[in-house]
Amino acid sequence: MDLGLHGKVAIVTGASRGIGQGIARSLAAEGCRLVICARGAEALEATADMLREQGGEVVAITLDVTQPEAGTQLVQTALEHFGRVDILVGNAGGNRRGYFEETSEDDWSALIELNLRAHLRCARAVIPVMKQQGGGAIVFIASIFGREAGGPGLSIYNSTKSALISAAKILALELAPHNIRVNTVAPGSIRFPGGSWDRRMREDPEGTRQFIAQNIPMGRFGTVEEVADVVTFLVSERARWVTGACINVDGGQSRSLI
Ligand SMILES: NC(=O)c1ccc[n+]([C@@H]2O[C@H](COP(=O)([O-])OP(=O)(O)OC[C@H]3O[C@@H](n4cnc5c(N)ncnc54)[C@H](OP(=O)(O)O)[C@@H]3O)[C@@H](O)[C@H]2O)c1
Repeated sequence: MDLGLHGKVAIVTGASRGIGQGIARSLAAEGCRLVICARGAEALEATADMLREQGGEVVAITLDVTQPEAGTQLVQTALEHFGRVDILVGNAGGNRRGYFEETSEDDWSALIELNLRAHLRCARAVIPVMKQQGGGAIVFIASIFGREAGGPGLSIYNSTKSALISAAKILALELAPHNIRVNTVAPGSIRFPGGSWDRRMREDPEGTRQFIAQNIPMGRFGTVEEVADVVTFLVSERARWVTGACINVDGGQSRSLI
């Protein structure tokens, strides 16, 4: 299947490791030109070098997506280097675990900024450009725990990921007349070297095996490539009739009917 992504320009946030790096690699392999970002320069530059070695055209910019001007900076960088922006993948995100009563105002503010407002600011910056170009594709990386209860200790994560899925749905409705598609992807538990599930597996192998047996019908963690493949399809021409959707990538882990 030709995804029709060759020469498209994509912004991927949080691309220096994990799922974001996998998405950047997959888009580069399809011929996209990339603007990638993260806060840590070293890992970001290493990722950019790795992508360039594989033939990718990549601009790496060190920034914190929670800063008010981050969205504008990313879009300006793409326009300066490539003259257009076709795709935005909002991937940077995080978690602050804790029972609600232990969470602080600062915990809530920080995660609302990172998991929700940063994505919206990037969208705000890119939408006028996509409108002018006649279309575009936006994907936000949410979580299955934006669609159903993740459990005690996840009030902030659950709330921010649910809000992101909701916002994307409304953006999809508003932007459909402009041929801009907006979707979310909801990963289940994804393991990669250095990631949180990898750490848990090394710290508590037996407990983690039990977790998998009880929670993931396909019997293993997902991989970054499995998330990246779905994102790559979603931003491609082949998914041109898909907007306002939230796609689980979770080996059956999600229990939600919606
Ligand atoms: N891994 C999973 O099992 C899983 C499951 C469901 C959903 N997700 C979601 O998938 C996304 C990626 O997860 P992951 O596990 O790959 O995360 P990760 O390993 O923590 O990587 C996050 C990436 O985002 C960057 N980043 C974090 N905060 C940033 C900020 N303020 N500004 C710019 N860049 C920032 C990080 O680099 P720096 O730290 O250098 O900035 C890194 O490149 C997140 O939205 C997460 O919630 C993950």
